[in-house]
Amino acid sequence: MHPLDTSTSHISNSHIAKGYELTQAGDRYFDGLVDKFSRSLYQAPRGELRLAMLDYLLPQMLRLTAQPVLDVGGGLGQLSGWFAERGHAVTMAEPSQDMLAHANAWHDERCAAGAWPPEQLRYLAAPLQSLPQQAPGPWPLITCHAVLEWLGEPEQAVQTLASLLAPGGQLSLMVFNRDALRFSNVIKGNLQKALSDQLEGKGKRQRLTPISPVTHDEVCLWAANNGLRMDAVAGIRIFQDYLRHPSAEESEQATLLALEKQYCRQDPHWRLGRYLLYTFTKPKADV
Ligand SMILES: C[S@@+](CC[C@H](N)C(=O)[O-])C[C@H]1O[C@@H](n2cnc3c(N)ncnc32)[C@H](O)[C@@H]1O
Repeated sequence: MHPLDTSTSHISNSHIAKGYELTQAGDRYFDGLVDKFSRSLYQAPRGELRLAMLDYLLPQMLRLTAQPVLDVGGGLGQLSGWFAERGHAVTMAEPSQDMLAHANAWHDERCAAGAWPPEQLRYLAAPLQSLPQQAPGPWPLITCHAVLEWLGEPEQAVQTLASLLAPGGQLSLMVFNRDALRFSNVIKGNLQKALSDQLEGKGKRQRLTPISPVTHDEVCLWAANNGLRMDAVAGIRIFQDYLRHPSAEESEQATLLALEKQYCRQDPHWRLGRYLLYTFTKPKADV
């Protein structure tokens, strides 16, 4: 069994005010959202496509040398598993006990099937904000995928992530793209919403519209303000969410995946990806 570090387990619940699902810091932990999240994303074609695109892009966009990885807001644990399977020692930090329990159970199954040895993965029941104390590193590789948009202060999170990186270390950052959210609202006929530009969700009940969708310009600015150098950017799901007739046919889905791969790093297509995937490097200090 994996050691599930519950030393910080008080953090998630004590921050959640009753009847309203945001923490005091304005973050949306995914307690109570496991089924909805897993059904609407990972058991659907868009989740499959997201994972297939990460599988395709991460080896291109990162320098992978089996270095230790800190996976921040690891959710159901797919990305942590992906790295563990490739020989990285992974620390998965996640403040939602529900998500962590599911990730842990799934990882146990994968371990039992021989995908990686149990000691390859450890867990921290902790939010990003506490990592400078709980997992200071510095880390050669940090991943933070689809988390910023669930935070009250995404800009501050970039500062924290930068502080945890070792000189020369890489950050794989994936964010929910605000511009793509506007575009898809228009396509769906939510014209007033798009016109007033009130796109963000409120983080209430089981809604999965992010509370802090971010733009490419914001990411560039926040990264630059923290001394991070952008090495690469790609769009994830640049076409799929805009299809008029999503196909159930396997052969068409394979063609769609080929299209996504072909254009995910090409201007202008990457810019309207549902998610934007970045690699940032913390430069080594000048000698
Ligand atoms: C959309 S899920 C993404 C999960 C996973 N990284 C993935 O790509 O599938 C967002 C995750 O961020 C977590 N989260 C929310 N606030 C957080 C915080 N302050 N620090 C770290 N994770 C947080 C949620 O609990 C949830 O598991």
